[in-house]
Amino acid sequence: MDQTSSPSLPDKIPTHVAIIMDGNGRWALARGLPRLAGHRAGTENLHRIVEACIEYGIQYLTLYAFSTENWGRPEEEVRGLMGILENVIDRELRQLYDEGVQIRHIGRLDRLKPALRKKVLHAVDYTRSNDRLVLNVAFDYGGRDEIVYAIQRMIQDGVKAEEVTDQLISQYLFTAGVPDPDLIIRTSGELRGSNFLIWQGAYSEWYFTPTYWPDFDKEELGKALIEFSRRERRYGGVTTTDRGSNPHAS
Ligand code: FPP
Repeated sequence: MDQTSSPSLPDKIPTHVAIIMDGNGRWALARGLPRLAGHRAGTENLHRIVEACIEYGIQYLTLYAFSTENWGRPEEEVRGLMGILENVIDRELRQLYDEGVQIRHIGRLDRLKPALRKKVLHAVDYTRSNDRLVLNVAFDYGGRDEIVYAIQRMIQDGVKAEEVTDQLISQYLFTAGVPDPDLIIRTSGELRGSNFLIWQGAYSEWYFTPTYWPDFDKEELGKALIEFSRRERRYGGVTTTDRGSNPHAS
């Protein structure tokens, strides 16, 4: 790890970081540019964040690129975002592969144009044996949609009511086999979860920053990691020092 470029290294690194990459539109607006220019700038940021995650030793990165609700945006923007995903795969796949990144897709594939679906599946297949960083791309992803789909498949598989457990539900989600996110970051100052990893994020730590996604760089990620390393995760329990002094601590 390049220690010279990190002001102080966090002492506790999350295994899985998930990011709501928000603020592309406002970033563009502030510069008098069309919204798609903001999304393009956001795309250029992908690589440096992936590299920073590898340097920090993060093992799983999940990026919220297109939500099930984003279909409601103007047609031109939706088309532009589809084109951006296609370009990212064409442009970055080889380098991501060389860096040891395993690409996974979470979300629906059935509403993507066949050519794009094919590209996504190819990227997943091409990188499947890599293990330096697992990059989950959430594209046409929604947390509620994911749970509905999981329940439908459990019913189709004949799962009995008494067999339904926390663990079984996790296995039916798009993220099966991926540990829950330790840290969820949202850029751009919005303070919402927006249907992202609603099951998996039950005990995640949240970090909000006013920085727009295209400006969220390695240093900004470092600040989020330092904040995370200061948090005490109690999962609804109490700490040793709390015991006996505050029975309502959570
Ligand atoms: C939110 O900003 C961002 C998006 C809906 C798209 C994010 C997509 C990318 C960064 C590029 C594609 C990424 C991959 C992994 C293929 P916003 O438009 O809601 O911004 P605003 O709130 O300022 O309007």
